[in-house]
Amino acid sequence: MEKKKFYLETYGCQMNEYDSHLVESLLTAAGFEKTESESRADIVILNTCSVRQHAEERALGRIRSVSSARRSREIAVIGCMAQRMGDELLAINKGVKYVLGTDSFYKIAEILKSGNGGQVVDISCREEPFEYESRPSGKSLSDYVTIMRGCDNYCSYCIVPYVRGRERCRPPERIAEEINRLDERGRREIWLLGQNVNSYKNESIDFPILLEYVLENTEIPRIRFLTSHPKDFSERLIDVMASDDRICKGIHLPLQSGSDVILKKMNRKYTSAQYLQKIRKLREAVPEVVITTDLIVGFPGESEDDFRRTLDMVEEIEYDSAFMFRYSVRSGTRAEKFGDDVPEETKLSRLDRLIQIQKKIKIAEKKMASHIGSVQTVLLEQPAKQSRDDARGKNDGGLNVVVRGGAEHIGEFVDVKIISSSYSTLVGEIINWQE
Ligand code: SAH
Ligand code: SF4
Ligand code: F3S
Repeated sequence: MEKKKFYLETYGCQMNEYDSHLVESLLTAAGFEKTESESRADIVILNTCSVRQHAEERALGRIRSVSSARRSREIAVIGCMAQRMGDELLAINKGVKYVLGTDSFYKIAEILKSGNGGQVVDISCREEPFEYESRPSGKSLSDYVTIMRGCDNYCSYCIVPYVRGRERCRPPERIAEEINRLDERGRREIWLLGQNVNSYKNESIDFPILLEYVLENTEIPRIRFLTSHPKDFSERLIDVMASDDRICKGIHLPLQSGSDVILKKMNRKYTSAQYLQKIRKLREAVPEVVITTDLIVGFPGESEDDFRRTLDMVEEIEYDSAFMFRYSVRSGTRAEKFGDDVPEETKLSRLDRLIQIQKKIKIAEKKMASHIGSVQTVLLEQPAKQSRDDARGKNDGGLNVVVRGGAEHIGEFVDVKIISSSYSTLVGEIINWQE
């Protein structure tokens, strides 16, 4: 009998990417076949995100386009928007057959197999820790390992705690086992994932200890992690980062706002001064560290003065890069009650001014140019777009590097002398390589 083919599309953050790998593993193990062609699929699975209105609109638009295609296919909506909307999705679009939330998507194989013709909505929540793991497939050099699910921080603007449930941490042994399996399958870099990795706790093991455990119990050459909440970002973590080259010198530390009034309303639990102090300590201990951030403009009540404080922080800190968002009301969150009082044009113009600060003052360009002349270790991941002889990869901090003549060393770590740079990429030449 011909295998049923599934096509899987993923929106949102790395957590969803990881869950999509799980779905792929579960379905292939159950006899389904993955296809990259939407039109040849028997079932289209959309793994969705709810973090901003725009993310949901995109997913709803995709559901419409899949359901109106000439060839009829089953549609499964999974992930955060499925969790948030549940039954509502069936009502919105008759083409949707399965709705599986963030804690029930692991049942996907049995549900698709039982195929009794009816629609299925399962957004039940399990409080016990997750016990399933992805089986690595493909040839990627880098992969994700989830160390915890859910979030207990309740930042007032954020939907994640409502759609991903309470924080649950995975035992260190399971994390190390998964990393070792990925290592055996050729991965050279792993990202430890959690909404706030700094609040990881498994019995007496916290996040810095977990990093030490992973260093001791695996041989994966590069370890990265995401996301760090500033309130829990500790000196012990800085020490562990500084202590071992296998821990990459890159950190994503979302500031969200530079105004203490807004930070308080956001329930972020740090002040701009405390944040700055942490950045200073981090840069003292790890001078080459690459720091990135997330920023929200137009949060309820944000005045011109509040916004200027965000600009000031961005100018002072000089992030290597920043993800910048317009505030989007999420129903059921605490900030919903604050009203959405910053007009859309103000949000847009603030977003633009913020982007200009990052770009026009050329913070990123200046920082990139400061690497010229230095030697960087780069994991070469894929051929470069511009020339077949060149390859691209990332340095220790996570910056993109194009390496001249690197094509024959893809999959290896190479030492590269940086010869030029642009806004987002360094260019270098190989001086040494390690197989
Ligand atoms: N757990 C991570 C990421 C959460 S979502 C963290 O704490 O940083 C990624 C980013 O989306 C957030 O950092 C925030 O900047 C942005 N975001 C979340 N909710 C939002 C909303 N309602 N409107 C606009 N941006 C939002
Ligand atoms: Fe959302 Fe805050 Fe949790 Fe991040 S830490 S997922 S922003 S509630
Ligand atoms: Fe991630 Fe979006 Fe869900 S950011 S956790 S996929 S709401």
